[in-house]
Amino acid sequence: MHRYLVPSIFCLAVMAVLPLASQEARDSFPDYYTTGPATRDGIGKFYMGREIARTVSAHAIGWLERRDREGEEKPSLVMENLGLDPTDVVADIGAGSGYFTFLLAPLVPEGKVISVDIQEEMLRFVEAKKKLRKAPNVETLLGTLEDTRLPENSVDLVLMVDAYHEFSHPREMMQSIVRGLRPGGQVVLLEYRGEDPEVAIKPLHKMTREQVVKEMEAVGLKLVGSKDLLPIQHFLFFERL
Ligand SMILES: C[S@@+](CC[C@H](N)C(=O)[O-])C[C@H]1O[C@@H](n2cnc3c(N)ncnc32)[C@H](O)[C@@H]1O
Repeated sequence: MHRYLVPSIFCLAVMAVLPLASQEARDSFPDYYTTGPATRDGIGKFYMGREIARTVSAHAIGWLERRDREGEEKPSLVMENLGLDPTDVVADIGAGSGYFTFLLAPLVPEGKVISVDIQEEMLRFVEAKKKLRKAPNVETLLGTLEDTRLPENSVDLVLMVDAYHEFSHPREMMQSIVRGLRPGGQVVLLEYRGEDPEVAIKPLHKMTREQVVKEMEAVGLKLVGSKDLLPIQHFLFFERL
């Protein structure tokens, strides 16, 4: 069996989905969103030709925290290549259980990591981990489907790992992220590679590089770098135009 099939199947088994996003998705539709029949893993809402994936619930915490994640995805390589300064303020958007939040925290000892999610259960898990790990520079922030609630001009780097594809309001979320960036700040996106059939992840939970770039450009972000280092994910850097 392909080495990535196991986590993918496990993912299918444990990832319950939230009705929240589907409900919200039907509420209002600016013209950049369209609707259509929902596929098995989608919410029936489309953005720039892509169906938005269902949100992963807190039942998936065990999967997000799995021990073999370093072996499968090499998050340590991500940390080594973010170019963080010790004083930086970083936002981990769609942080889930905070797997990346707690890799980031030691790299910004004089700054902080803001762990943003829309699910209180995820943020409670992050708060519990913060106590266990004794990481005073971690903060949690409950966002909405459309707004990170980050203050304007407040962060040096935004990291989104395996989260953007399931934002029910990607345009509004990205506009809110852009507002939150300090001048010169960067948005770093990790998404499972959609153009690679070897990446055994459900199709709506993967994105092609072309699609990511198109969606970031729609909110005034340009691709300024990419690192071809990770086994199964794109690792893309964006800045304001
Ligand atoms: C698949 S998990 C990834 C978690 C984490 N980044 C990781 O890689 O371990 C995606 C997370 O995005 C969150 N999410 C979905 N829509 C969101 C939004 N509009 N704002 C913030 N978080 C959101 C979900 O609640 C979920 O915790």
